[in-house]
Amino acid sequence: MSDIAAITDQTPDAVRVLSVQHWTDRLFSFEVERPASFRFRSGEFVMIGLLTEQGKPLLRAYSITTPFWDEKIGFYSIKVADGPLTSRLQHIKPDEFIIMKRKPTGTLVLDALTPASRLFLVSTGTGIAPFASIIRDPETYERFDEIYLLHGCRFADELSYGKSLVAEAKSDMLIGEQATAKLTHLPSTTREPSELTGRPTDLISSGELFDRLNIPALSVGSDRVMICGSMAMNQDMKAICEQAGFNEGANSQPAEFVLEKAFVG
Ligand code: A2P
Repeated sequence: MSDIAAITDQTPDAVRVLSVQHWTDRLFSFEVERPASFRFRSGEFVMIGLLTEQGKPLLRAYSITTPFWDEKIGFYSIKVADGPLTSRLQHIKPDEFIIMKRKPTGTLVLDALTPASRLFLVSTGTGIAPFASIIRDPETYERFDEIYLLHGCRFADELSYGKSLVAEAKSDMLIGEQATAKLTHLPSTTREPSELTGRPTDLISSGELFDRLNIPALSVGSDRVMICGSMAMNQDMKAICEQAGFNEGANSQPAEFVLEKAFVG
């Protein structure tokens, strides 16, 4: 019997898995039942995981991919062959249980940004996860006129999750019309050619992105930025923002950009 089966509905903080989707041999997403009293803001993360063989919780931070109004809670994960959690988590099946702590937190929230007209969501790899939530939140479309979702991956097949998500947002009953009018998806690859080739950071700093879309360059007067990817990407994008005069915001002090490291391992 696997360690996963050791979690039951009697285990503290257990939640039932509803569905699992494998996108590539390295990426999967899954949804769990939303506990009745569980509230969060779009863009936040929670600690989720399994039990070790000794029965101790093995937890990692995962951004919630579903919006705050959804009945389900979604997650998007990498599969690391020797990763303590993901080597096992990748095998979960509907009707099994995982642990989800009930304390959502994080800085990638609309409340940490001051008002502006354009919102740039800059992600690499599984860093798209919090933006999956944000692009399905009606408040995003109330606060911003234009939303640009940049998602850089090594290979084209790693872009399918994001593409399906954006298609879903654009046909959604609640936000479909707004998303169609305001959301621009910019998926790019770095290790094989695709419609858009290059790191999101390079596409911004070279100006290629703005030329391509025929829109004004990044400017603190009109724009806000949310960043989520590897440590290296976050640092590079933070430097681009700071050079352009953006200040980092927080829940307690909203400003012009926010960042969070994507979970890996
Ligand atoms: P690259 O192929 O040029 O390294 P990873 O799987 O390593 O997390 O990478 C996911 C994506 O993030 C890849 O397209 C990778 O590009 C890109 N990337 C890695 N480092 C940076 C960085 N410092 N800034 C922007 N993108 C980066």
